Amino acid sequence: MPRKNEWETITKWGKQYGDVVRVTVLGKDLIFLNTAKAANDLFERRSSIYSDRPRLPLINELMGHDWNFGFMPYGDEWRRHRKVFVSKFGPGNVHIFNPIQERAVAQLLDRMLCTPKDFLDHLRLHAGQLIMMSVYGIPVQSREDRYISVAQAVMDAVSDAAKPGAWLVDMFPILKHLPAWFPGAYYKKVAKQWSSDVNELRKAPFGVAKSLMLKGLPAPSFVSELLEEMKDPKDEEEAIVRDCAALAYGAGSDTSVSTLSAFMLAMVLFPEVQKKAQAEVDSIVGSQRLPTFADKEDMPYVFAVMKETLRWHSVAPQGLPHQLREDDVYNGYRIPAGSIVVGNTWGILHDPDVYPEPMSFKPERYLNSEGKLDYVAIDPARYSFGYGRRICAGVHYAENTLWITIAQLLATFDIRHAIDKHGRLIEAKLEARSGIISHPAPFECSITPRSEQTKQLVEQANAKLVW
Ligand code: HEM
Repeated sequence: MPRKNEWETITKWGKQYGDVVRVTVLGKDLIFLNTAKAANDLFERRSSIYSDRPRLPLINELMGHDWNFGFMPYGDEWRRHRKVFVSKFGPGNVHIFNPIQERAVAQLLDRMLCTPKDFLDHLRLHAGQLIMMSVYGIPVQSREDRYISVAQAVMDAVSDAAKPGAWLVDMFPILKHLPAWFPGAYYKKVAKQWSSDVNELRKAPFGVAKSLMLKGLPAPSFVSELLEEMKDPKDEEEAIVRDCAALAYGAGSDTSVSTLSAFMLAMVLFPEVQKKAQAEVDSIVGSQRLPTFADKEDMPYVFAVMKETLRWHSVAPQGLPHQLREDDVYNGYRIPAGSIVVGNTWGILHDPDVYPEPMSFKPERYLNSEGKLDYVAIDPARYSFGYGRRICAGVHYAENTLWITIAQLLATFDIRHAIDKHGRLIEAKLEARSGIISHPAPFECSITPRSEQTKQLVEQANAKLVW
């Protein structure tokens, strides 16, 4: 298995060998699905047997993530958790977070105005702030906040540990019984620190959210809404709410940061797209106010920019691994039960037959000749958010966050190449970093207010802000 840019190698294998490619790593079968057709045929049409997760002893048993439904085996417990999560983050109710999403962008814009060079840090704080407010009603103001730093530590650890084949203990679960001092049992020592962080993440902010409710200061949040509805929840019901809340930061912050940083880069590299999108924003809101969710329908090009961002840079280039429950046969190939099945998301979203010139950033792909949205058949969200019954449970919330942030950034700032001290453009290019969650390599850019009026809009929006 390649250790860097694995999506390029896997896509090459796909071209050489076909839709379905098997690689055996230390005796474990990894099956890569390289086309949208194969991914839909198996993950969607045969979802009852393709929705399990591989057993991940390092994450679940040593790090103590067995409460996290993102890693749970497919079954009743996973279903119970996912149902609670989707009751607020699903399409029917996700709009309850819109006011929080609009308010968080006001702070982001103000930070971009004051210290534009630190834009990546601002995006990170923005994502963490949004999740903590939406899930617990806890307003955080800095990246040094204890909840943010613990949640980030947990997230980084999971990202390392979840790489297929990265850790021997996942290949040979028997290793988890070795004592920590045993040579080679390094992971066990690391996992001890990780599991104490995981425990803190799971319990501390939930306790704060409950005490905020008791004080009668309930900023509506995932936790407060659910506990109020339940009135007098049983311990088991409360534990499900607590555990669903605790996974939101891990699942939702880095993924959003990576996508928004790719958006900033795309605006640097494709200035004509930025101009067109800004012209659309101006035609709807002028320079008198900032876009809100109420403007979404009237801005198809901005929506298409959001979709193209999800395609152009694959945040999860190989999704999260699924595991096959029963032996299966597909196109004459036998796929044995227990195989780890991976969607080659990067390859699917860069297939030149579906997305011509895949490395170019072209929101026009999703619009018809009259400029109206016509994207369902090639919607990148069908792949960038994963597959079948395990598809990202925060997809609607994530798309809303991306849309409002992109629309307001376009309304207020010009995002261009940075200039060095000799007046030359500093080169920027998309270089995706490896990992379960892939980030664009850091780059520099210039972020300046579009006019005195937009600068004032940003300042006024932030001055009015009350969490
Ligand atoms: C751009 C942002 C995001 C991207 C690209 C993304 C992508 C993904 C992917 C690829 C998966 C794995 C799906 C599979 O197994 O096939 C996933 C799972 C998940 N995501 Fe997201 N995600 C994003 C944001 C969020 C947010 C904001 C939340 C929460 C508010 C969230 C919650 C979840 C959960 C709970 C799962 C586990 C689903 C399960 O196993 O049943 N995600 N996401």
